[in-house]
Formats: sequence, structure tokens, C-alpha cells
Amino acid sequence: MTNLVVTNLNKRFGGLHVLKDVNFEINGPELIGLIGPNGAGKTTVTNILDGAIKPNSGTVYLNGQRIDQLQPYQVARAGLGRTFQVTRSFRRMSVLDNLFVPALALNRGNSRAEIEEKAMEVLEFLTMAHLRNEYARALSGGQQKLLELGRLLMLDPEVIILDEPFAGVHPQLMKVIYSYIERVNDAGTAIILISHQMDSIFTLCRRLLVLNYGDLIADGVPDDVKRDPAVIEAYLGVEEEDTGAGKGGRAQP
Ligand SMILES: Nc1ncnc2c1ncn2[C@@H]1O[C@H](COP(=O)(O)OP(=O)(O)OP(=O)(O)O)[C@@H](O)[C@H]1O
Ligand SMILES: [Mg+2]
Repeated sequence: MTNLVVTNLNKRFGGLHVLKDVNFEINGPELIGLIGPNGAGKTTVTNILDGAIKPNSGTVYLNGQRIDQLQPYQVARAGLGRTFQVTRSFRRMSVLDNLFVPALALNRGNSRAEIEEKAMEVLEFLTMAHLRNEYARALSGGQQKLLELGRLLMLDPEVIILDEPFAGVHPQLMKVIYSYIERVNDAGTAIILISHQMDSIFTLCRRLLVLNYGDLIADGVPDDVKRDPAVIEAYLGVEEEDTGAGKGGRAQP
């Protein structure tokens, strides 16, 4: 069973203490929301978990293996993948080739035909099979997000972190992303969902972590977290301006 253990994570950028002794554990295929105001440290946690940056102190173990000092490709091999708040597809490659990259990088010995079969399954699921030969740069913003989700599926990860997957996505594509999250989770993958869209968080997640300027101020079931005075004061009780972009506000789907 998937076991992710984050212990006393600290991160400083110069004089800014961005993560302060953050501790949490994931056991099994949980679907967890990671929420908090802009600048709370959510993406920084993600960057540390996937190996993109190193913490100043603290450890991360995935299934007993220490991963906080590994490179991102090693972390992906260990079973943890993430999407980016700003999508990062290979813009000059076709959609299908974008899905080949992670599968080839992992080098699990699958044949080209096997990889292509899986890639087509992934594209069908994402309702993007008809786009397989398009350049990634020709896709809409929402479709680029779906492509990133597809690249994650190619890795068969045990834990995935989705950093604002709904930001800038139109309602039809949101439905596809919702169903992606539910299906991947049902199939046994633990998911950490970062979003400012509280409707999505409360619909999908069965546990919430709340970060407030580096402090993890709550970790529990949504009904308890919703009523937690510290969370209401720090985040949920504050009506921010609705930017419609999902970042910087509690934008609705
Ligand atoms: N590479 C960096 N160098 C300096 N400061 C950084 C760096 N990355 C993040 N920060 C700062 O760390 C803090 C936490 O940023 P982070 O991106 O983790 O927040 P977030 O919770 O993801 O916010 P948002 O909801 O806006 O995406 C912010 O004050 C940010 O400016
Ligand atoms: Mg962020």
C-alpha cells in the first residue's frame, strides 16, 4: 500500500521561511485536497516532493525509500508524478509523442507498440484521440492541461500531485478532469489536489490539508476543516476577488 511520509519539512528562499516544519502522511489511495491562500507554500511542497527543489531540512519517504534528495526523473521512477500550475508540454512535438516521452524515459522495457497502445487508451479517456497527431502547441490551454494529465498516466504513478488542474479550464473540460481524477483514484493512485476552487475540493476530496504561509494549520475530513476557526480565519472565511483564472481567487467552475 502506498505510504508517503513527510517529516519536518522546512524551506527558505533567502529570508522568506516558506515551509515551517510541515508534517503529513498518506496511507493508501487517498484523495487529498491541499489548500491555502496564494503564497501559502502549496507549489513549494509539490516542488520538493517531486525533486525539483531540495528542502533546507526534513525528509520525504515514499514506500520506505527516501526521495527528498533525488532528481525528478528518479522520483518519477519511484512512483510520484505531478502536473504544473503552468503547463509544460513539448510544444513542438505531437500529442502522441508527448505521451511517449515519459514512457521512454522510465525505460521499463515496453515495446513501442505497447507504449502506443497505452498512449491511445490514455487519449481516448481524455477525449483527445482525434488530436493525436496535432502539435502540442496547437492545443487550447485546457487541452494542454489534459495532455499533462495524460503524461502522468503513462508513468503508472502511485502518488500524483495536481497543481491547480482546473485553472483556466472551460466547464466541459472540467468534467473530463473530474472524471480523470475519480477514475485514477479509484484505480488505486493516491492524489493530492491543489485548487482554489472550493466546490471542486469539497466535491472530490475526503481529506484536506490546509497550508497558511508555511504552517500546516489543519489536516482532517472536509466537514471538520470547514468548521475549524483557524482555517476560516486564514482562508475559507475570506472572500477574495474572483479572478476567474483559478489563481488568486476562489474562482468557481
Ligand atoms: N524560487 C523561489 N524563489 C523565491 N521565492 C519563492 C520561490 N518559489 C516560491 N517563492 C515564494 O514562496 C512563497 C510560497 O510560494 P508558492 O508558490 O509555494 O505558493 P502557493 O501556495 O503555491 O501559491 P498560489 O496559490 O498563488 O499558487 C511565496 O511567497 C513565493 O513568492
Ligand atoms: Mg501554487
